[in-house]
Amino acid sequence: MKKTTICIDKNFTVSKVDERIFGSFIEHLGRAVYEGIYQPGNKFADKNGFRKDVIELIKGLKVPVVRYPGGNFVSGYHWEDGVGPKSERPAKVDLAWMVIESNQFGLNEFMEWSKLADTKPMMAVNLGTRGIEDAKNIVEYCNLPGGSYYSDLRKKHGAADPYDIKLWCLGNEMDGPWQMGHKTATEYGRIAAEAGRIMRMVDPTIELVACGSSSLTMKTFAEWEATVLDECYDIADYLSLHQYYGNHTNDTKNFLAESVAMDEFITSVISICDYVKAKKRSKKQINLSFDEWNVWYHSNEQDKKLERGVQGPHQLEDVYNFEDALLVGSMLITMLRHADRVKIACMAQLVNVIAPIMTSDTGAWMQTIYFPYMHASVYGRGTVLNTVVQSPTYESKHGDAPFVDSVVVYNEETDELTLFAVNKDLDSEMEVTCDLRQFEGFRVTEHIVLYHDDLKAVNTEAVPGAVSPLSNGNAAVNSGILTAVLKKQSWNVIRLGK
Ligand code: AHR
Repeated sequence: MKKTTICIDKNFTVSKVDERIFGSFIEHLGRAVYEGIYQPGNKFADKNGFRKDVIELIKGLKVPVVRYPGGNFVSGYHWEDGVGPKSERPAKVDLAWMVIESNQFGLNEFMEWSKLADTKPMMAVNLGTRGIEDAKNIVEYCNLPGGSYYSDLRKKHGAADPYDIKLWCLGNEMDGPWQMGHKTATEYGRIAAEAGRIMRMVDPTIELVACGSSSLTMKTFAEWEATVLDECYDIADYLSLHQYYGNHTNDTKNFLAESVAMDEFITSVISICDYVKAKKRSKKQINLSFDEWNVWYHSNEQDKKLERGVQGPHQLEDVYNFEDALLVGSMLITMLRHADRVKIACMAQLVNVIAPIMTSDTGAWMQTIYFPYMHASVYGRGTVLNTVVQSPTYESKHGDAPFVDSVVVYNEETDELTLFAVNKDLDSEMEVTCDLRQFEGFRVTEHIVLYHDDLKAVNTEAVPGAVSPLSNGNAAVNSGILTAVLKKQSWNVIRLGK
């Protein structure tokens, strides 16, 4: 049997996990908002139209932060259209997704919904078709207690207390030619610096995320990051990364090796941030916000046939299979391994649109990718230990890829240790050992396994539990050594405590 050794040391840590690494994203796109989180009249909706069944599933994920309202959508959005009396809100054409936006759900509803879903907002401003003035106004509307036009308007709209939104994205994917108001790096860097500066004058306590590249494959990658940071280093706190993967050629081995590419992407962006830091002789460190990540490709062909100009179409509705869940697990492990610099990350998206949660008029269910996301979010809080994984490797388009991706997190509050591992070997089991003698008295409390014989197995409304985790792993600690035989193609969560 192949063998993997995992080495950890109690005192050799990467960083405390910023819980916002388990964030997600709701965009006005497809059925994410309408029919996703908001569906007045539905039998699961509360008096405000919020889907209670969806909120329950979101709570299961313990989502600390939700990015809103886009995405590409935000680059043409007028936030004022979505506040105040619903009967007075205009329906508008959304050119990002070529649909009609009714504006029946907006900022006021999102803030109400966030409270119910136990999450916090990560708000994006429109730096595409709009600019500094509007960015200033929305911060004033949200965060000032009153006594000014926009803060009083919020009060008039029924929100007596400020929304107090701490985290703000300075636009979205401004490097992308598809983006409304697409800019060169210098143009964007300048507007990000000025918008951020004025937003912070309104509320000095806010944190700001500047746009990095839309993916590692953008031709402008690296130069974009360096130029943007040159312009807004002193204003921004985080630089964003976006990346989606797909198994386009039905080559699962290479697909599962994408975590290697993700790791390289993160490492490169850290280097660029630190290059600009050195160049500026700055003491400040820019951290990363991986605020769009997921698998996205299943719906590509179908979406080419979508009707334009309708409301809430079935758009980007990827039906995720079991192998997607494995890569999602590996992506989560990869980000946790960089917890010293990746402070925010958003699985894109949360409901119906490339999402872990799907809805119909008659119910809501969990896609395969729900499970690794839930496990990482629920059990991955604490301090990431520097986890040295000595795993056999296989050849991939990204060079040698380890069969096992793994990370160990120690939760000081609960005195629990959790080892996450994906065995990407499609043919054989893997024996994993880890010396735990520094963690005296620790034993396995649960070994959760997500496994399916069929890499293409999916959860649907008709068969919602086809791919589900089981607490049936065989991990055990003997004389301080943890040993587990990981099934081929499996996601594993080994929980340890006293
Ligand atoms: O998440 C879907 C889209 O992907 C977002 O709107 C955009 O930012 C990205 O290109």
